[in-house]
This record gives sequence, structure tokens and C-alpha cells, in this order.
Amino acid sequence: MSTSLLPDTAAVAAGRLGVGGVALGDLAARHGTPLLVYDEATLHNRARAYREGLRAYPGPSRLAFACKAQSSVALLRVLLEEGLGMDVASEGELAFALAAGTPGDLLVVHGNNKSDADVAAALAAGAGLLVVDHDGELDQVERLAAAAGRVQPVLVRVNPAIDADTHRKIATGHAASKFGLAGGEAAAALRRAGSLEHVRPMGLHVHLGSQIASVDTYLEAAAWLAAFIDREGLGDLPLLDLGGGLAIAYADGDRAPDVRAAVAATAAGVAEQLGRRGLPAPGLILEPGRSIAGPAGVTLYTVGAIKTTAAGVTYAAVDGGMADNPRPAMYGARYRAFAVDRADAASTQAYAIAGKHCESGDVLIEAAELPELRPGDVIALAATGAYTSTMASTYNGLPRPAAVMVAGGEERVVVARETVADLLARER
Ligand code: LLP
Repeated sequence: MSTSLLPDTAAVAAGRLGVGGVALGDLAARHGTPLLVYDEATLHNRARAYREGLRAYPGPSRLAFACKAQSSVALLRVLLEEGLGMDVASEGELAFALAAGTPGDLLVVHGNNKSDADVAAALAAGAGLLVVDHDGELDQVERLAAAAGRVQPVLVRVNPAIDADTHRKIATGHAASKFGLAGGEAAAALRRAGSLEHVRPMGLHVHLGSQIASVDTYLEAAAWLAAFIDREGLGDLPLLDLGGGLAIAYADGDRAPDVRAAVAATAAGVAEQLGRRGLPAPGLILEPGRSIAGPAGVTLYTVGAIKTTAAGVTYAAVDGGMADNPRPAMYGARYRAFAVDRADAASTQAYAIAGKHCESGDVLIEAAELPELRPGDVIALAATGAYTSTMASTYNGLPRPAAVMVAGGEERVVVARETVADLLARER
């Protein structure tokens, strides 16, 4: 059995699939399902691969993990240990980053429509950078920073009109996207920021989109940025933030760049494009989310109902679905499943892995090749460490799953399972 889509520590012993030295079937028995399992070693490895790739950059560089991908405080703590800062997109995400112990200067605060509460929370946290997404936001930050007695360093988000090859719902750098300012307006916003008393312009921010498999897209952005910086006379700005977006493999045959090589190629490309125009290398920031947390996670489900329809589709229904992982329903995302306690057995059948929600679109995998399933079997979906728990809902009154972190043969619960009482707690 190939474990390439699974976390780095995945291994099969006597037919049982384990991660972090713990059998997944045992985790399901001890903690129930659906259960998210995060492999600490994979988080360390991928954070280090990013850091190693950045060594190809001649100037200073740093990383801010995109908390929208995954905001479990324990997981953020692992990444803080690796020296990463945090990219947050709301007062709520900021609270998760602070709970993990993120120092204010390592925070990058995003949002295309920040509320006064979002900005005030960033100011109160002493956020190192706030990314301005529209012109009016400069006045908002000036007003709130003055009230807080602070000068807020800002980046301005520029839209390079680059159409990344990814799902259209998660492409952000194209001309029609709601994010950022077109070139001329971004340059004007940076100039205006320099005239405000409580705002300090620090540089540009670009985010092309997510699940981008081609490094060429980043190189295209590097060339565009260098020309833009040159044309607008912005070469003295100290920072350049290229956002996140690197793709991961979800299913067999998916093309996913090697992190170290892709980051090194991007960093070298930025330096080369700027150098060609005689521009200095500013401090480079990257904001990875999925490519750090995604491959570190698997979701365990228990199989219940099994049946074959008149049309010949065999369904195996599991105890979660579109509420804990909306990605297949939202983006047509594909996943790979493993039968955790028969990991060595040959696949004999294609199952549609359905959830337990009340709609036909609640199918996690349309055709999963698996050994014959029986009710009670536990299956694992690979590469579910990003954009699952942070996008989860409680549709159909299903409490959200628990999460455990595994390392060195031990597990610890890092997110408690939600209860039906929790669901009722807000009702009046
Ligand atoms: N920086 C900014 C400003 C972003 O908006 C994002 C993601 C990232 C960094 C991190 O991108 P990553 O490295 O994770 O691709 N829910 C979608 C993905 C939405 C991404 C939103 N922005 C999905 O499940 O595929």
C-alpha cells in the first residue's frame, strides 16, 4: 500500500495503519469518530521545508501560517516552535493565534472588509503588519491607531490580474477578484499611507489563490511585481509578502510541488527579477496554510449503512460528511480513503463514500477503491488537515468532531468533541 498521501509517519503494521506510532483504529476506538488526527512530525517537517527553501533568498525572509487553513491552538503552537508567525483574517482568528502565544510582531492581519473590532483587536495585539485591502481602510486604520496611540505598519494588497490555474472559487489574483487594489490604486494607497500620522507603509502584499500546483504562476507574479515596483518607484519599501497557495496532493495522480524546491525557486525568482532591474531584495514573507497543515491530517470515520442502488452505485455511509468536510460539495474536491485495519488487503470494490447529511450532494468520495467494507469498519481520509475543521458546520445538528495530535506513539486530545448540549447553548 502506498502511504504517499498520508502523513510522513504513516506506517502499516500487521495490516493496521498507524500515524505517529499510534494505530488509527485504536484512536477511533478510544476517542470516537469522526476524529481528526494531526501528525506532529509532518507539521515540523513541512515548516522546516519552507524555512530551508527560503534560504535561496538573499534578503531576510519569514513565514506567517494562514490560520484560516487550521486554527487548532495546539497545532499553531507546534508551528510557533518552528519560528512561524500567524496570518489571521478576523478578530476570531486573531484570538486563536494569541491563545497559542503568538507574539504581536509576528501577526499579519488580513481581511477585505475589516470591522472596527477587527482593526482594534489587531492594534491591541500590537500586530506587526496589517494588510490594507481598499483605500477607505487607510482612514479606518488611521482613526483607530490614533485612538490607540499607535503607529500601525501596513502592507497594501495589490491585485496583479494573474489568473492562477486552480478552482475558480479559490483564485484571488485575477482582475475580477474582490481582493486587493489594482496596480495604480495600490501605489496611490501606499503613497497616501505615507502621509498619515498613525500608519506606516511597509510594502506590498499579493495572494494569487490557493491549491496552485505550478511554480510558474509564482514566477509570473515575481516578474509582474518587479516591473510594478520599478515603474511606481516603490523599490525602497522594506517588505514584500507573496501570500500562500501552494498545492498539495489529495488523490492518487495529483500533481503537487515539492515544498522545499518550489519555495527555493520562487524566492530565487523574486530576487532575480528585482536584481535585474537594480532593485534591492526586500524582506520576503510567505503565508502558507494548506501546504503545511493539509498533509499532516487525516479524518477517521466509522462506516454504517452499506447499500447498492438500482443504478448500481454502492454506497458506504459514514458518521460525518459535508458538515465536517464541505470541500467535495463546495469545490468538487477529491479524496483518497484507506480501510485502517485492513491496510494490506487488496481493493476489490468501488464505494461511493456518503455522509449522513440530508442531501444527495453529501458524498465525500464518488468512487473509493477499497476492500469489502462492513458496518463498523473505520476508514481514514487522507490530507484533511487544512480547510476542514475551520470550515466545518453543525448542519443537521451534528456536533463538530474532536481532534487528536499524535507523536512518538502517543496521542493527546487537542480539540474536544462538540456535544449536542454545546449546540443548544446559544439558544434563548
Ligand atoms: N494568505 C492569504 C491572504 C489567503 O487568503 C490565503 C488563503 C492564504 C494565505 C493561504 O493559502 P494556502 O497556502 O492555504 O493555499 N477553503 C479553500 C481555500 C481558501 C483559501 C483562502 N485563502 C479550500 O478549501 O480549498
